[in-house]
Amino acid sequence: MTILEMNASHVAQVAQLEKLCFSDPWSEKSVAGELENKLAYWLVAAEGDRVAGYVGSQTVLGETDMMNIAVHPDYRRQGLAERLVVELVAGLKAQGSRCLTLEVRASNTPAQKLYEKLGFCQIGRRPKYYRNPREDALILRKEWEI
Ligand SMILES: CC(C)(COP(=O)(O)OP(=O)(O)OC[C@H]1O[C@@H](n2cnc3c(N)ncnc32)[C@H](O)[C@@H]1OP(=O)(O)O)[C@@H](O)C(=O)NCCC(=O)NCCS
Repeated sequence: MTILEMNASHVAQVAQLEKLCFSDPWSEKSVAGELENKLAYWLVAAEGDRVAGYVGSQTVLGETDMMNIAVHPDYRRQGLAERLVVELVAGLKAQGSRCLTLEVRASNTPAQKLYEKLGFCQIGRRPKYYRNPREDALILRKEWEI
């Protein structure tokens, strides 16, 4: 499994994973738009031509938001999401970002365990932030020295 920056050949599979993993997915057009977005930094985990997972982020003035992360059900619990986030943070550090902030559904225990393992701390909560179904978001952040 290789971790590399998302390119045009990955977009369709990333959009399919969005549909598979989220109730309010990004469209293929929105994912493709990130290739033109100078603030965006997206990584994929690929085995040959197959995209097994991805993480997307956007950085403004040295502060990064994680837009989304997902791993195909066939590839879960093999450390892929962890590798994606570790590589993302390494790349962000090299770009001069100081922190990574994200929102996670209050009921999403697997993702919360992942972020806890990677050293994220809860800094807030947004009531009823998500739709389909309506749910609070926990706001988590990881900071580092650059
Ligand atoms: C959350 C998600 C990305 C995790 O991907 P993954 O590749 O299976 O995660 P990893 O194998 O890298 O797991 C790393 C750690 O996360 C935690 N974790 C991951 N899945 C877990 C689960 N189902 N239950 C409990 N802990 C879990 C564990 O601490 C794990 O470390 P361990 O294996 O040493 O116990 C994946 O379940 C997914 O795509 N979910 C649907 C999309 C989603 O919810 N994205 C997050 C949006 S905020």
